[in-house]
Amino acid sequence: MQHKRSDFPEGFQFGVATSSYQIEGHQFGGAGRTHWDDFAATPGNVVRAENGALGCDHYNRLEEDLDLIEGLGVDAYRFSTSWARVLPEGRGAVNEVGLDFYDRLVDGLLERGIKPAATLYHWEMPSALADLGGWRNRDVAQWFGDFTDVVMGRIGDRVWSVAPINEPWCVGWLSHFVGAHAPGLRDIRATARAMHHIMLAHGTAIETMRALGMNNLGAVCNFEWATPASDRPEDLAAASRYDAIYNRFFLSGIFKGEYPAQVMEGLEPHMPAGWQDDFKVISTPVDWSGLNYYTRTLVHDDADAPWPHYGQSVGELPKTSMGWEIYPDALRAFLVRMAQEYTGSLPIYVTENGMSAPDEIAEGAVADPHRISYLNSHLAAAKDAIDAGVPLAGYYVWSLMDNYEWALGYEKRFGLIHVDFDTFERTPKQSYHALAKALRR
Ligand code: FCB
Repeated sequence: MQHKRSDFPEGFQFGVATSSYQIEGHQFGGAGRTHWDDFAATPGNVVRAENGALGCDHYNRLEEDLDLIEGLGVDAYRFSTSWARVLPEGRGAVNEVGLDFYDRLVDGLLERGIKPAATLYHWEMPSALADLGGWRNRDVAQWFGDFTDVVMGRIGDRVWSVAPINEPWCVGWLSHFVGAHAPGLRDIRATARAMHHIMLAHGTAIETMRALGMNNLGAVCNFEWATPASDRPEDLAAASRYDAIYNRFFLSGIFKGEYPAQVMEGLEPHMPAGWQDDFKVISTPVDWSGLNYYTRTLVHDDADAPWPHYGQSVGELPKTSMGWEIYPDALRAFLVRMAQEYTGSLPIYVTENGMSAPDEIAEGAVADPHRISYLNSHLAAAKDAIDAGVPLAGYYVWSLMDNYEWALGYEKRFGLIHVDFDTFERTPKQSYHALAKALRR
């Protein structure tokens, strides 16, 4: 790697990230059904109809995986807690075995000197709550608050940081408007409700954790740079609408206590009654802000389509195996914008960044120079943001190991560690070794 730990400010935190459904193996340990199980079982939604039943078998290989995290020399590990593992029906009876698992995970990290950075929800809504409307039902905020209370009642005394919901845009827009993720809806009314209830659930969880006496609580949003497809005024306006929906809605809710007018143009008629009164909860103060970043998109006006009247295309830059253009400068730009326009002096973390590639094992080793250069260029962008005065306090690579990449099944490999999905054998890639060397003290 071109960068090493000492190139970053003292105390800058390096980490690696995963999520529960993507790695644990959901069929183990008494977890309840989730809407991803249902979505994946429906033809056409997921590559080869794969689901997270086995994941990376992390549930059964916890100690081995903790050792691999330790071997990287990272300061923190970002993981998530599965709602349906802890509360199989989403509410009511607690699966103690599930709570025990997160207890072991947290203790195992602490024993190895690694900070546990928890996310409460990384996308697997219990099916029993999906039956009641999931994110469309206002009661979800309280259900989520209760889940927060159960999980953090157990591990909240030892986690280093917590974010309630990973990537509200994916939970709201991608899953209820685009239909690409569970529950696979394409419905503007469902979208408006989900986007708002996610924010309400976020605030409710923060309040719940404050009541437990916890601190170092944040929010993790994802961002995609919207480049206008041409300099026609219509395309500039379309890119700005895209930016408002994707990149500004959730930050505005949390840090300004309002939603952008450009988004309300389309969503307001579909919002749940009384939404304007919820900002006190939504914008309850947090201690840090997290930014997940991967790519950009080209946006053009589509006057014939209903709101938001835009279309997208892929540009000419080099791409990852997701088809995502590699565009590091937007990481710098998003970091600067977040600090200047939303979060001020609050610490910011890059909570996810990384790339997928069709990495293969040859003679027991995995060469992934493209990933090393992706990380190099994005770490350089992070450094540029620090030089520009952004209070960036850490950077997490997505992901520790190859895992279940949602609608793309097990085909897309984002890991620093290769996983053989037949045997579950783990093989650290070249990028793992390079990062470990860069982080060595
Ligand atoms: C993010 C998700 C994560 C993973 C990466 C590639 O949007 O948070 O689970 O799918 O993308």
